[in-house]
Amino acid sequence: MLYPREVIEEVRLRNDIVEVIREYVPLKKQGSSYFGLCPFHNENTPSFSVNPEKQLFYCFGCGAAGNVIGFIMKIEGIDFVEALKKLADRAGYKLPEAEYTKEEAEKVKLREELYEIHKQAGLFFYKALHSSEGNRALEYVNKRKISLSIQKKFGLGYAPNSKAALYEYLKNKGFSEKAMLESGLIMADKYKHGFHDRFYNRLMFPIFDVRGRCIAFGGRIMEKGEPKYLNSPETMIFSKKRNLYGLNFAKTAKKKEIIIVEGYMDLITIFQAGFKNVAASLGTAFNHEHAMLLKKFVSDVILVFDSDQAGENAALRAIPILVDGGFRVRVMQVPDGKDPDEFIKSKGSLEFGKLLVDAVSYMTFQINCAKKKYNMADEEQKILFTREAAKLISSIHSPIEREVYIKQISKETGISDTAVIQEISDTDKKRDRNFYYESKRKKIQNFSSNISVKNSISNSSGVIQAQKNIIFLCCDNTDLYFKIKKFLKADDFPDSDYSHLMEYASSFIESGKNIIPADAVSIFDTDEKQQKAAAVFSANVDYSSSEELSKALTEEIRLIKRSKLDCLASSATTIEQLQKIIKAKKEIEDIDIKL
Ligand code: UTP
Ligand code: MN
Repeated sequence: MLYPREVIEEVRLRNDIVEVIREYVPLKKQGSSYFGLCPFHNENTPSFSVNPEKQLFYCFGCGAAGNVIGFIMKIEGIDFVEALKKLADRAGYKLPEAEYTKEEAEKVKLREELYEIHKQAGLFFYKALHSSEGNRALEYVNKRKISLSIQKKFGLGYAPNSKAALYEYLKNKGFSEKAMLESGLIMADKYKHGFHDRFYNRLMFPIFDVRGRCIAFGGRIMEKGEPKYLNSPETMIFSKKRNLYGLNFAKTAKKKEIIIVEGYMDLITIFQAGFKNVAASLGTAFNHEHAMLLKKFVSDVILVFDSDQAGENAALRAIPILVDGGFRVRVMQVPDGKDPDEFIKSKGSLEFGKLLVDAVSYMTFQINCAKKKYNMADEEQKILFTREAAKLISSIHSPIEREVYIKQISKETGISDTAVIQEISDTDKKRDRNFYYESKRKKIQNFSSNISVKNSISNSSGVIQAQKNIIFLCCDNTDLYFKIKKFLKADDFPDSDYSHLMEYASSFIESGKNIIPADAVSIFDTDEKQQKAAAVFSANVDYSSSEELSKALTEEIRLIKRSKLDCLASSATTIEQLQKIIKAKKEIEDIDIKL
């Protein structure tokens, strides 16, 4: 870890979790906690709770949990150190110099070099476009009607038609070969010991991250040829999956709505037409990470994909991701088989604006797509369509919204609304049943899978719950801790994270200090582990009597020890090891907690 524990605790202390979360989620006080709609999954009734006393958040719906640092990591999609910096800034606290290990320091340096290489490469391409060798490229840009100011805004450039022009340029600037190769802009020759550029004779589009730093390039061929667009490979600073082209500009438009398109030219033309709230997924499928990225800036999305089958499929795939992410989603289809760029160039921005206003709700779009598959003149097919539509409608929670679509379907098919409603309610029931069977099947699979015996032993829900309960109770009550300690230690925990947490708790209790749950959580630096730790402290372990508690504790300790021994047994290699395990297993029976 880069920062000492005290620094992390100080930053956490200076940022009250309720105040910080309130900047993102409206919260209402209920009893000793605050409640709101969970920002990490789509819900209609609040199950997201923030506990000011414990300084932890916990969602009863999706299980998201953590302290204030974890919340920032999750909602901003940043790592532990970035979240820490952000919170330190917020509190006006100056972080001391980070302590890097040698490898970390090298990584940080390489990253910085990569950003610098991209900046320089961008300038190089830009200059080339405006020099004599870029004449034909500039002609092409003009032919595609990109104005000079938009060319500048998007930093368009030209990769010269020579083998290693960029390589020579970067080398003269003093960049290391390692960094040049890592950037993906320069490649090693296959047979000779030299280097060459990835891009040549292409119109270059710099790709920016949300903060406006150039992190990659896309290059368009200007004649016929393959590939039409050549893109940078994935690098330390560029992940296609986690980046949306144009979002750096779109976010400053400060609109609650964003237009999502597929490509470079569509985006630039739409932007030039005056719709500045637009981003592109650059030919990759729109995914969950894209949605999380958008969540920070907008609540509504208009999908504007090509009017061909591929575009329709892309929209259909993006819809559930966005709807689950809690966005209001509409879909706009460009008529006449055109893409948005071609449409604006032939019909003008005013017409395009009208299409945007008329964008249909995602549900209408889904229903229309379904309808295309059936011949509505045929009774049999009409029934099949109604079934499919009912299934789609059943995913809507709001009764009012449901009714709108029920009416629409019944009008289109001539089937009464009562019949459509009945069909929807059957689908609802079937879904609940499927959910039940699916959970059951998964549970059985967990117990019987022999591919990973070790995992299934320590992951069974009873053992997990037992480890959580014991840690919670130890932290809650020092007397209990000393009673439990006689039989159970941190390394008896089969799960290494719970074991680590228990060890941390023990060291606190043994030295007479109080455990602060919100600090215990940040002994872990990944989102997943923090969530696990926070869930321990967000529990409520209540036993009505001390007999009940001693009985439960005894059972839980036995379960934990047995599970750990089973794990050890599954990886034991000698008879002696096994004999020891068998002996230890027998001793489990003697455990008895008396309160
Ligand atoms: P399209 O083939 O629809 O191109 O690809 P386009 O956006 O209309 O481009 P123009 O108008 O012919 O210049 C859509 C997007 O898919 C990605 C690009 O991001 C492109 O903008 N793509 C396409 C690639 O990455 N590589 C390719 O070879 C083709
Ligand atoms: Mn196009």
